[in-house]
Amino acid sequence: MYHYFAASEIYNAIRIFIAAYVWMTGFGNFSYYYIRKDFSLARFAQMMWRLNFFVAFCCIVLNNDYMLYYICPMHTLFTLMVYGALGIYSKYNEISSVIAAKILACFLVVILVWEIPGVFEIIWSPFAFFLGQ
Ligand SMILES: *[C@@H]1O[C@H](CO)[C@@H](O)[C@H](O)[C@H]1NC(C)=O
Repeated sequence: MYHYFAASEIYNAIRIFIAAYVWMTGFGNFSYYYIRKDFSLARFAQMMWRLNFFVAFCCIVLNNDYMLYYICPMHTLFTLMVYGALGIYSKYNEISSVIAAKILACFLVVILVWEIPGVFEIIWSPFAFFLGQ
């Protein structure tokens, strides 16, 4: 709604709410994989479907840009990140130094991709066609 009505005066507050929401879903996903250890393809596929089906549907039917629904690809990306981080060598997740190293590795990946100039472009340029570019 705030996008639709271009309510720019509340953008910063909304960003904080979104950041809080994304943090909570990330924590929820982390907890899920850490405690339940369910890395099954079925659940993963269900989640990818739930996160992306309606976006793809809206883009096609309404002829909208994918970027309009950036929150869904963003959730997809970080869901993949949490899934990957906990899924790789998951049998060692109980070891606190291993899980700490995985969390640190995630921070380093985020810093590398979004703070080091040029890295983002190298990684994402093959996917530019998603954005119609
Ligand atoms: C995992 O993250 C996705 C996307 O952010 C969210 O829809 C889902 O509810 C989360 N799962 C859990 C168990 O928190």
